[in-house]
Amino acid sequence: MKKMIFLSAAFGLMSSMASAETIELPAPQIDEDATLYQALQARHAVRQYLPRPISRQMLSNILWVAYGVNREDGRRTIPTAMNKQDLSIYVTDDQGVFLYNAAQNSLEMISNQSLLKTFQTQPYMENVPVVLIYTGSTDEKDWAAMHAGSAYQNVELYAATNELGCVVRGYFDNTEVAKALNLPADQRVLVSQAIGYEAE
Ligand SMILES: Cc1cc2nc3c(=O)[nH]c(=O)nc-3n(C[C@H](O)[C@H](O)[C@H](O)COP(=O)(O)O)c2cc1C
Repeated sequence: MKKMIFLSAAFGLMSSMASAETIELPAPQIDEDATLYQALQARHAVRQYLPRPISRQMLSNILWVAYGVNREDGRRTIPTAMNKQDLSIYVTDDQGVFLYNAAQNSLEMISNQSLLKTFQTQPYMENVPVVLIYTGSTDEKDWAAMHAGSAYQNVELYAATNELGCVVRGYFDNTEVAKALNLPADQRVLVSQAIGYEAE
């Protein structure tokens, strides 16, 4: 917990420097009593969601778990090849599309046009409030897909013990999403992950 207290203080300082186009996230609050074993036991793909939004606090927690800074030198909650940190996480909700800035613990607005409908390629997606979009280099040697796998598994484990539901998703139009994100030619959309609250 000591480390989280440090992170909270650091994010508090940094967030006051954020620009107008940036949405500051609350400092992540991970106060997890569940064991890794419990998370592994509970993890499963969720395909039934309540029409319930995810708070900014919860979004901050999810993003930190996925790919946040967990050390003073800027390294992350996941390992990356040669620490190149070749992964980006975009977030779409009903407010638009945002790029996660882990160092600042903020969201940079890319567009005020939500991409949620673009991801509604299966019926259960209708109620999903947030989709994470993992992107990285088109160069296979940059290992971006592996980094996405590490990040989405972190989220799966966090969700499993925090009353959230999520499912990794490859069934959507990558080209359309890449265009909406305005990705440069050397970047690609790797995979996505729907997150919300599981309907019983
Ligand atoms: C790379 C990847 C892509 C996936 N794409 C989809 C998808 O498009 N739609 C879906 O409903 N589930 C998708 N899944 C979820 C898998 O179907 C699910 O993980 C698998 O059935 C095992 O179930 P479990 O996660 O509950 O163990 C995907 C999983 C991975 C790892």
